[in-house]
Amino acid sequence: MFPATARRGSECGVLKVGDIRATELVERFGSPLYVVDEAVARQRARDTRAALQREFARVGTDATVYYAGKAFLCVEVARWMAEEGLNIDVASGGELAVALAAGIDPGRIGFHGNNKSPEEIAHAVSIGVAVIVLDSEQEIERVAEAATAAGVRQRVRIRVNSGVHASTHDFLATSHEDQKFGLPLDRAVELGRRIAAHPSLEFLGLHCHIGSQIFATDGFRESARRLVGIYRELAEAVGAPVPELNLGGGFGIAYTSAEAGDAPDVARVAAELADIVAESCAEAGIPIPKLAFEPGRLIIGPAGVTLYSVGTTKAVALGGSDAGSDPADAGFAERLYVSVDGGMSDNARTALYGADYQVRIANRRSAAAPALVRVVGKHCESGDIVVNRDVIPGDVAPGDLLAVAATGAYCWSLSSNYNYVPRPPVIAVRDGEARVIVRGETVEELVAKSVS
Ligand code: LLP
Repeated sequence: MFPATARRGSECGVLKVGDIRATELVERFGSPLYVVDEAVARQRARDTRAALQREFARVGTDATVYYAGKAFLCVEVARWMAEEGLNIDVASGGELAVALAAGIDPGRIGFHGNNKSPEEIAHAVSIGVAVIVLDSEQEIERVAEAATAAGVRQRVRIRVNSGVHASTHDFLATSHEDQKFGLPLDRAVELGRRIAAHPSLEFLGLHCHIGSQIFATDGFRESARRLVGIYRELAEAVGAPVPELNLGGGFGIAYTSAEAGDAPDVARVAAELADIVAESCAEAGIPIPKLAFEPGRLIIGPAGVTLYSVGTTKAVALGGSDAGSDPADAGFAERLYVSVDGGMSDNARTALYGADYQVRIANRRSAAAPALVRVVGKHCESGDIVVNRDVIPGDVAPGDLLAVAATGAYCWSLSSNYNYVPRPPVIAVRDGEARVIVRGETVEELVAKSVS
């Protein structure tokens, strides 16, 4: 689950990422530490774009890939993505500012959000973002007014709910009806007509993102089929062919070895989606639109590792009310709680979604008998869990370094200062070189926020 370039040094057994020892990274940059493997992030961006473009070219159309910045965005990562030929999807004025600071051409930026402020809309329109995704009826008029005021014609999509309930954690599923995103698919024709009536708007088509961390690909296929299913009627309503279809992001990744065989392979999903879109368009008798996608986690998740230092350990007997809570724990008499110097402030996903992660001792090899461990943070909350369950050598001890895999997506971006814990820096590694790409915070900076 560690980035493809991760290895253990042959003599010392120290984990290396991007050809640098974890121990050296922590000596130089401190602990805890987010580490991003640049070569892996770039390779995944390239592979994703290549697979989608190849498969949609096979059925005679194009695919544009937007990197979903919400997964993890900073100036460097935005540049890597642009250099690998991806566009950038931003979901707030803040993310837009980072993309612009990276020098990304606004013509390669898509702007999302279910409640963009009038200022955010006016700014995005005035700089010429490629597309604004309309997520409410009110936004049709708001974007039209901003475009009229700026004297431009703004390209827009409508975000719809396809009604497909992706099989993932409830908070990560976004295209069933009872949630805040998008508009009902059965209103798309009427809304398309309203958009077409505004000379300051150019209607590109529909957008649908069915959820995140999705493994079963049938949801993507069904959603694509439903959207294409109304494209003929939509074209008649707007008086022109609808040129694009955006199927969002959401491709799941393996966080643990147990999941490794089940995570979707982007080449296979791309092939299946290209076939479904082509077939649905043939049935409807319409030209195949250009496709767009917005993967985030798929690209950056597996490129990240978090390094922590162990502070304390505590063995807790399993039994009583905990007995049998997980059948896989049956062979263990106790659980070793391993407390590290970070926690839910640098990785909220375990607490928020019950996410699973994999952990390894990073500073040495060990032949000690395996122990059932739970890696916990330093916050005042019993749900402050980083790795809920893993089995690692039982001699793990204070002073050891731990590496948690696949933390590249939605860890730094969901981080907080709970308990006034400063955010760690993000370090990019590549071919034996390491550099800070997001500065860490200090307690002094946090204290300075209080007005005294
Ligand atoms: N496009 C739209 C419109 C989205 O809402 C999202 C994610 C994406 C693309 C990218 O999805 P991805 O390919 O990364 O799955 N905090 C949660 C994930 C929230 C996803 C929100 N939207 C987590 O940590 O699992």
